[in-house]
Amino acid sequence: MISLILALAFAGMQDMPDTDSAQAVSEAAPEQPAPEPQRDPVTGELPVDPYEMSDAHAGATPFAGTGMRDAFHGQDGIRRVVNTMVDRATNDPRISEIFVSHDLVRLRRTLFEQFCYILNAGCTYTGRDMASSHRDIGLQIDDLNILVENLQAAMAQEKISFSAQNRFLSKLAPMKRDVVTR
Ligand code: HEM
Repeated sequence: MISLILALAFAGMQDMPDTDSAQAVSEAAPEQPAPEPQRDPVTGELPVDPYEMSDAHAGATPFAGTGMRDAFHGQDGIRRVVNTMVDRATNDPRISEIFVSHDLVRLRRTLFEQFCYILNAGCTYTGRDMASSHRDIGLQIDDLNILVENLQAAMAQEKISFSAQNRFLSKLAPMKRDVVTR
């Protein structure tokens, strides 16, 4: 009799759902991979988290008058300078690694807007502020100096006078404190 009761109890235990292992099975179910971010079909840019837009995020006040705009050959010249600088930086073995996996379509656009705004060439800056844009990159002063070299080469290629080059660089110089974090 006792063995019959034990046998029934054992059979009943086997039928009882094992909540721990049920949970383990559901946890082990294959996870759906996160969907790949899609580029905007019009702009070609990847989406970014929402942020407030302001010209103040450009990190410098614009030059007065039209002298610097003209020295940079207007918006077309500024676009050439930005594109040449980005091409050089992304092919410069000293810093090219830093740009891997970043959205260069967006970077070219926001850099163009920033330079154009500061040079008073008729643009609004819609990018993020310099501290937020560079917070997670971990840049060192050497990286900044190399990017400035690439910018100087791009400005020389555009045949921008040294005095205009230096006036522009002096607008960018104070951004070091927001860009260099190591
Ligand atoms: C004064 C110097 C600099 C200026 C004015 C500047 C300007 C900018 C601007 C306008 C953006 C885009 C912000 C946005 O997406 O909303 C940006 C992002 C970025 N910058 Fe700079 N930058 C500077 C220095 C540097 C240096 C030295 C490096 C590396 C060598 C660098 C690497 C990057 C990268 C990788 C991004 C993309 C960040 C992302 O994907 O979120 N920047 N920078």
